[in-house]
Amino acid sequence: MKSILTLLFLVGTFMSCTQEPNTLSVTSPSGNNGIDFQLNDDGEAFYRVQHNNGTVIDTSYMSFDFQNQKSLKENLTILNATTHSLNETWEMPWGEQKEVVNRYNELVVELEEATAPHRRFNIYFRAYDDGIGFRYEFLPQQGIDSIIIMDENTEFQLTEDYTTWWIPGDWDIYEHLYNTSKLSDLDAISKRNHQDLAQTNIPENAVNTPVTMRGENGLHLSFHEANLTDYAGMTLKVDNETYQLTSELVGSDRLGYKVKRALPFKTPWRTVQIADKATELIDSKLIVNLNEPNKLGDVSWFEPKKYVGIWWEMHIGKSTWDYAGSQDMNTFIEKLNPTGRHGATTENTKRYIDFAAKNNIKGVLVEGWNTGWEHWIGFEDREGVFDFVTPYPDYDLEGLTQYAKDKGVEIIMHNETSAAPRTYEQQLDTAYQLMHKLGIHSVKTGYVGKIIPNGEYHHGQWMVNHYRKVVEMGAKYQVAINAHEPIKATGLRRTYPNVIAREGLRGQEFNAWATDGGNPPEHLPIVAFTRMLAGPIDFTPGVFDIALPTKPDNQINTTLAQQLALYVVIYSPIQMACDLPENYEGQPAFQFIRDVGVDWDKTVVLNGEVGDFVTIARKERKTGNWFVGGITDENSRELTIDFDFLDEGVSYEAVIYKDAADAHYRDNPTAIDIESLDVVKGSTLSVDLAEGGGFAISLLKK
Ligand code: NOJ
Ligand code: CA
Repeated sequence: MKSILTLLFLVGTFMSCTQEPNTLSVTSPSGNNGIDFQLNDDGEAFYRVQHNNGTVIDTSYMSFDFQNQKSLKENLTILNATTHSLNETWEMPWGEQKEVVNRYNELVVELEEATAPHRRFNIYFRAYDDGIGFRYEFLPQQGIDSIIIMDENTEFQLTEDYTTWWIPGDWDIYEHLYNTSKLSDLDAISKRNHQDLAQTNIPENAVNTPVTMRGENGLHLSFHEANLTDYAGMTLKVDNETYQLTSELVGSDRLGYKVKRALPFKTPWRTVQIADKATELIDSKLIVNLNEPNKLGDVSWFEPKKYVGIWWEMHIGKSTWDYAGSQDMNTFIEKLNPTGRHGATTENTKRYIDFAAKNNIKGVLVEGWNTGWEHWIGFEDREGVFDFVTPYPDYDLEGLTQYAKDKGVEIIMHNETSAAPRTYEQQLDTAYQLMHKLGIHSVKTGYVGKIIPNGEYHHGQWMVNHYRKVVEMGAKYQVAINAHEPIKATGLRRTYPNVIAREGLRGQEFNAWATDGGNPPEHLPIVAFTRMLAGPIDFTPGVFDIALPTKPDNQINTTLAQQLALYVVIYSPIQMACDLPENYEGQPAFQFIRDVGVDWDKTVVLNGEVGDFVTIARKERKTGNWFVGGITDENSRELTIDFDFLDEGVSYEAVIYKDAADAHYRDNPTAIDIESLDVVKGSTLSVDLAEGGGFAISLLKK
């Protein structure tokens, strides 16, 4: 008892006055969020979370199951508890904002089993004003140098039936449409057998994170994890009756466990972002703050950029990745097409480079330049198929890199691994050396298909470690990584600023070939409050030819003005202008893409509700110009912009790109009005957004 009293004294500074006995507590710097930790009579550990004196997470237990060891669950005693505080400001080398405030109070609880085998572990709790995080630390134990985790059982006991925006807890892919339902109706199993996914595995009624919720009184929560290192990704199992979420780690059927680690080690942080209104979720920097500082130092060799590429033309069926045969994206079945449709030819690449150079676009992605595409999708044995250094005979790798460089443009390398990571790892050093030699500083990777070897999944520990190896190899050769079919973003861009963007959601490509009608208009107004909280997104906006003449069943559910808005709304330090150069020629709206920034000093979320609409303003680092983007779901709406965020004493020319009065995402998607006017701080403007529409504004300093 004495030691507990000392503990209470120790953590007294952060205690709330309604303290129960034997409770260790920590509150956030402004006092709005609090965490309590306690042991029950059986010595089982639990925590609770409060926000503004209301309970947000009620009694939630934490335990682990191991292979060949009994569970770590009961008979625990508290050995010690300490508190720490930090208030620092760190700089993003590129990002949504330049400076990030990292301010928290931390409680570290040291625990030990009172009975044999007397294992010890620690729990770190951090209370921030924008949410909370906690992680476990496993310590060296006598006679044990590593542990094999069969299950982590971290509970999150919610107190009401939240409205939830979720994708299923798929172990292999995040490219599902978001669903909106109450926790009591959440049914992830019904999302199995998706016909447009090359790989999918949904073993439980679980969701992937970030998963975002809104309560009756308007409180918003988003659950995720930070610093996913050498561990399995976490899904959250949902109990429809009790509203309890429980961690469910992604497993490996090949290895038969979830995680194997040498001791000591720390798990990723389990995070809850807590916001009184939806827009504050986007403001939150909790996920990056829970990662370690920059390990790479100066990464100025990577410059945020817009890019075009030989990409959309394959997705809409105009050309092929492969030189000799062809894959059909609709069926994933090999078909032989007439030859002569290869996209990545020297001539075609020059056309894209010339277009980029003329239009303030600094990158050109080329997919299908290397050998192996004849055996890409639809093949069981994809091991050893791709070669990451050998171009097809009609692609002049070195000549084109130089041609681009001469025009101030950089080629973006492409490495599709066909989900055969061992083949990729064998060639990794050579492939990245080649990029270094060519002066190429970014690569888009891809992992389409079921992972080889069988029994591994995209989000398990084995793949988490593979993705990390690639990031480290990239760092060694000054190459930044944009992974498709990736592991989710957990804020590692802070530690490794060569982690620039990733897919990890249902991107624009689905609009070219999905058999379910494409992304609905509510998709991106949900993404902004879910997937985007994890980190930068390679969504690839910018379709101007929205009707998709080569794909009569796939007109995109967007207006042209909405495509422009996405350059501001969806954050990434690399933003594609994905349409074909010929579709941009002579289009006045393309001026917005020429002008818009990609690297920001500040971000201000002006308004938004999950799944309905969102408007974001961002100030460009280099120029001090501001850009605004707003998007809506299937409902038209009027939004009023208050230019209060602008800099004092500066006047701006505002160029407004908005849906025309008769625009509509289905019937009249390209109807756009472009107007200019002068604005200053304090001006206001109201804008009408069409169904499935949006608006974009450039605010250019005069
Ligand atoms: C899937 C990626 O998401 C897509 O962008 C890419 O074109 C294909 N893989 C080929 O690598
Ligand atoms: Ca994809």
